[in-house]
Amino acid sequence: MTGIRILATGKAVPKREVTNDDMAKIVDTSDEWIKQRTGMSVRHHVSDGENHTMLAEQAARAAIERANINKDDIGVVIVCTVSADYYSPSAACLIQGRLGLKKDVIAFDLGAGCSGFVFGLETIRALMMARKEKYGLLIGAEVLSKKMDMTDRGTCVLFGDGAAAAVVELSDKLYTSVIGVDGDEEMINIKTPNGYIHMDGQGTYKFAVATVPKVIEQVVKDAGLTYDDIDYYVMHQANLRIIESIAKKVKQPMDKFIVNIEKYGNTSAASVGLALDEAFEEGRIKPGDKVLICAFGAGRTWGAVVVEM
Ligand code: ACO
Repeated sequence: MTGIRILATGKAVPKREVTNDDMAKIVDTSDEWIKQRTGMSVRHHVSDGENHTMLAEQAARAAIERANINKDDIGVVIVCTVSADYYSPSAACLIQGRLGLKKDVIAFDLGAGCSGFVFGLETIRALMMARKEKYGLLIGAEVLSKKMDMTDRGTCVLFGDGAAAAVVELSDKLYTSVIGVDGDEEMINIKTPNGYIHMDGQGTYKFAVATVPKVIEQVVKDAGLTYDDIDYYVMHQANLRIIESIAKKVKQPMDKFIVNIEKYGNTSAASVGLALDEAFEEGRIKPGDKVLICAFGAGRTWGAVVVEM
């Protein structure tokens, strides 16, 4: 078995909702500007007492419960993140402990910016194949509100906190991936030890609209499919205009694109997982559907997979 199947997903977001009007009380911005330029209305930020590990744990518990599996059969845990509570130990180790997963598990964090979840799918697949594991637990979790300069209106309105988890198993069903990196320090970065998100917004926008259609074209071709064969496109939720531009380039209707950016903002490594989870919950994505998941971001990184649900 060389492919991967997503058995179930789960999600968690902090209780506190921060509206565009709330952001306008902090920086010189407006609901109209944010909505028009990004499609965002609300994002969630952690409050005192909430943290990254709590969100990741809650999402993971929900996914495991829905998958209805024995948690002792989970052999790999990967948390995709750039904003965990600790540099070390990894969030994945904390999850192993909190969920009481078996000890001969391989557990680590993966940092690939907003492409994390897609890099994570490819990595967990390879590890599960190599180690012949029954199930894997993939989590994308971010608390980017802790990494934002709340005086920089060019970035602080864009990001939200949240976590999404998926229980996966090896499968003979359709699975194709395209992953890439074009090493760059400047476009988006968070400097150690206590840096804030720095982003060249326009540069990132141009990179996304130029790169993503090519990545989608490649992964669809490698899967032996056409754009029409894909039932749903689950894109990284960075900007509604980017998603619309991609839909136009691949000549697919917007109702085949899962969009929830208005409710969560850009949650980086959690974004495609949150979108997948909502689409499952709403009964939009169903077993047997062919789904293309695609993300891009800091690094510069990009990745797309086509999977059958
Ligand atoms: N409110 C009001 N005005 C603002 C705001 C704000 N929040 N932010 C910037 N502006 C102003 C700018 O200062 C500028 O003003 P000026 O013309 O007087 O100089 C004007 O708005 C236009 O700024 P632009 O940067 O040109 O605005 P743009 O239309 O490009 O939108 C945005 C900015 C939303 C950031 C867009 O470029 C974008 O979405 N880029 C992609 C971001 C992305 O995809 N990130 C994903 C990866 S993130 C990761 O991997 C962690």
